[in-house]
This record gives sequence, structure tokens and C-alpha cells, in this order.
Amino acid sequence: MEIVFATHNKNKVYEVQLLVPKHIKILSLEAIGCFDEIPETAGTLAGNAKLKADYVTQNYKLPCFADDTGLLVESLHGAPGVLSARYAGEQKDATDNMDKLLAALENKKNRNAKFETVIALNLNGQQILFNGIAPGEITVTKSGVKGFGYDPIFKPEGYDKTFAELPVEIKNTISHRGKAIKKLLDYLNKLENQ
Ligand code: IMP
Repeated sequence: MEIVFATHNKNKVYEVQLLVPKHIKILSLEAIGCFDEIPETAGTLAGNAKLKADYVTQNYKLPCFADDTGLLVESLHGAPGVLSARYAGEQKDATDNMDKLLAALENKKNRNAKFETVIALNLNGQQILFNGIAPGEITVTKSGVKGFGYDPIFKPEGYDKTFAELPVEIKNTISHRGKAIKKLLDYLNKLENQ
């Protein structure tokens, strides 16, 4: 089975590729010749995931799924949340975003945060949503070079390393996206065994 993952983010494709069994081939947007910046104008993670999945379905008529992720910080009342990608501006720069968040938390004792992912799967004329949450905390400084986005400043619950210091296989077992993808795979398995 071939399925499009509606993202331009190579890191996300790599993470997801490691999780899916070999008989499921993940196609990136590039692989189907889609170089468009798909609008993410909804006010919620689910809304944006649906927008991205629907864009591919409408324009390419292929089975696909899309994810949208937010980092929700407790003492910032859930910010940056759905605006995580452009927290420090439209340039969507990871270093700028992390610097802004570290500055916003400078005098805060409560550094609890969570990543949340919503995946929208468009298959056989139906749309199904899956979610995944990774609780943790924002560190005081950046550590690690693996991963992407906010990984160098996010320490998952139960670990003394940031996502950017953990091997991708470990990140995948505890991450928001990993958990949502596992639910999606369970769903596909059930469909195949029907
Ligand atoms: P989006 O789902 O690509 O729109 O992600 C929103 C923001 O969260 C972007 O700034 C991403 O870089 C960041 N982000 C998404 N997933 C992760 C992750 O697994 N680790 C760290 N940052 C992430």
C-alpha cells in the first residue's frame, strides 16, 4: 500500500518511515510532485491536519494523512500551541522559536509542557483523526543536535535528556507523533484483517 504523508518536513518523514511496516510505502509531498506550501489557516491542530490532508485528496486523489503539532506550555496558558511553527515570526525558524520560548519562561518555575499531534487520515472516502500527547518540560538551555523544531529544549517525562539528545527510535516510542502514528497503524491493521 502507498500512502502520502502531507508534509515537506524530511525529519517527520524519516521518523514516521521508521515506524511503519515495510508493506506500507510512505510518499512525501515531493515524491508526488507537490511543492506547494499548503495553507494552515485553521485555529486548531485538528483543523490544520484536515486542511493539509484534504488538499492532497482534492489535488492528487491519493490516500493520504497529514499531521499538525503544537507545543503547549502550562505557564503560558497553552501557548505557543497551534501557532508553534510561527511563534517567533513568519520565517518559522526553529532557533528563533526556541529563543523566544526560553525568554518567555526566564523567571517561571513551572516549565511543564506537552507536545500534541493530531493526524487526519483520508482513506476510502472517509476521514479519521488520531491524536498523541507527549508530556514533559522545557529545559533552561538547549541540548542536543538530533531531531528538529523544539527538540533541543523539550525533556520528555521520565527522561533526563531532551528529545534532541535521544536516539530517534526512543523518541518514536514516547513522542506525540509516534503515539498518533501507532493508532493510525492499528486502524490500518484492523482494516486489512476485516
Ligand atoms: P507542524 O506540525 O509542522 O506545523 O509543527 C508545529 C511546530 O512544532 C513547528 O515549529 C515544528 O518544528 C514543531 N514540531 C513539530 N513536531 C515536533 C517534534 O517532534 N519535535 C520538536 N518540534 C516539533
